[in-house]
Amino acid sequence: MRIDVLTLFPEVFEPFLASSIVGRAIEAGIASIQCVNFREFARDKHRSVDDRPFGGGPGMVLMCQPIFDALEKTEQSHESEPVRIILTPQGERLTQSLATEFARQAGLIVVCGHYEGFDERIRIGLGGREISIGDYVLSGGEPAAMVLIDSVIRLLPGALGNESAAEDDSFTCGLLEYPQYTRPREFRGMTVPDILLSGNHAAIRAWREGQARSRTASRRPDLTGPHADTEGKC
Ligand code: ADE
Repeated sequence: MRIDVLTLFPEVFEPFLASSIVGRAIEAGIASIQCVNFREFARDKHRSVDDRPFGGGPGMVLMCQPIFDALEKTEQSHESEPVRIILTPQGERLTQSLATEFARQAGLIVVCGHYEGFDERIRIGLGGREISIGDYVLSGGEPAAMVLIDSVIRLLPGALGNESAAEDDSFTCGLLEYPQYTRPREFRGMTVPDILLSGNHAAIRAWREGQARSRTASRRPDLTGPHADTEGKC
């Protein structure tokens, strides 16, 4: 999979792209991720990418031209048409099923906003997906881009050392993950449930499923109700 990130702050991605699962996936050739600084596409001598809002008001608004030029130039080097993604708190909420949908694509272009937001014609003209990572406002789209990229990359075949690890994740089946334990068997008086030490794999599977269901029902009833996002889940 190829991902291009259009950002004014490419340097903040450096440690993210060099570490952990994402870094390993890039090293293994499973994913290639580039940052494009759309300030390089600005045409005036100050390299402006933003301007004051028409109608007045605080802050600055990202202009159309540098973003459109950066996006169109970047897209030309993709072998097939990538999915365009704009990160904004006004977008569709990122869910596990959306991450799964993006992980099936050959290419993504992710646009990070800044300042007071995008000129509305960027949303209209780009015609991509507007995605939010939650109901709060970040100073820029960069942390949201990292969240989105991480959630997608870990779903690519071979990205996790152990293929089955992603399958047990919270949300993969529309449920929160069951409790996990490792050594020692007892820590500060808290013990590991006997069933996990029984060696009875069918019983362990059933216990884990029961735990996932009861945990989801008590902590996140919204995931199990009639509006739950369970499409395409196990
Ligand atoms: N940019 C600012 N806030 C954001 C959010 N919550 N999700 C995605 N992009 C954003």
